[in-house]
Amino acid sequence: MKKSLTSLTLALSLIIPISAFAKNNVVVVATGGTIAGAGASSTNSATYTAAKVPVDDLLNAVPQIQNLANVSGVQALQIASESITDKELIQIARKINELVKKPDVNGVVITHGTDTLEETAFFLNLVVHTDKPIVVVGSMRPPSALSADGPLNLYSAVALAASNDAKGKGVFVLMNDSIFAARDVSKTINIHTNAFQSQWGALGTLVEGKTYWFRNSVKRHNNNSEFNIENIKGDALPLVQIVYGSDNMLPDSYLALQKAGVKAIVNAGTGNGSVPNYIVPTLNQLQQQGIQVVRSSRVPQGFVLRNAEQPDDKYGWVVAHDLNPQKARILAALALTKTKDAKEIQRIFWEY
Ligand code: DGL
Repeated sequence: MKKSLTSLTLALSLIIPISAFAKNNVVVVATGGTIAGAGASSTNSATYTAAKVPVDDLLNAVPQIQNLANVSGVQALQIASESITDKELIQIARKINELVKKPDVNGVVITHGTDTLEETAFFLNLVVHTDKPIVVVGSMRPPSALSADGPLNLYSAVALAASNDAKGKGVFVLMNDSIFAARDVSKTINIHTNAFQSQWGALGTLVEGKTYWFRNSVKRHNNNSEFNIENIKGDALPLVQIVYGSDNMLPDSYLALQKAGVKAIVNAGTGNGSVPNYIVPTLNQLQQQGIQVVRSSRVPQGFVLRNAEQPDDKYGWVVAHDLNPQKARILAALALTKTKDAKEIQRIFWEY
């Protein structure tokens, strides 16, 4: 009896340490962008062609990721992200949704161009129901450049996607050692490696493959979202477009969008979402014809206060709160898959 117990204990002591080192399975879904770019020379850090390097070459260039997780690659797209439309957005979300539903997939990384990375990350945050880590990553320099940032960004993104403490926190953007909430992050500098920032700060940081957390997002996401990619049929979302505010505007910009069939207009207003007095009548005319009006701001920080610069209650307009115009476009499009009621759309903007 004693002998069999000893051998059982010995066996268990061997199994536990091995299981403790069992690696998670991470899938890298490549879509293009600078992280897959190619420049003519190593000194071309900003002049290059995006979306050239295939996913297997991206992974083979950073063999150290295999120490973090069992990593495999999928080439979902190979485009520069400024060219992503709602069609590709839905395609990416369906692919991620398919992967996270697999029991043997523990986390997903999406390599992506940085230009519209924030829109894709926010969309995934809203429509993919999972608590598994989903990490969107890009780079500001192509892998062919001196001090390319892509390899370390990819290494860190895999480390994050493989981290059990990253579960249930929402979709992440990993750039330049920072762990950002997909909802809050934006590309704020268009040529430097510290391009991505959030006015509410990062959720944490990742250094040498280890996560350090400092806060959580309080907004609804993933499993707590009323939106689900599985309920989106076809390859289009309700059409929502943005008009950029400035001085000397023309009503024609808005009327052209009405003619194009938009269901909502996001106004990237000046200041706290201000609208020129000579544009208000046009927006009210469109709102009365069923086009939703969402007041955002061209100013990168702060948030649009309801009934401050404009009497939103009186006009039946929506405010985007702290969402920038490009994210407000995503949320307005999803809201319109559920409702055409401005009050209900406003509730959605408060909660996500
Ligand atoms: N063409 C841009 C894009 O694919 C390059 C920017 C980048 O990926 O960093 O988003």
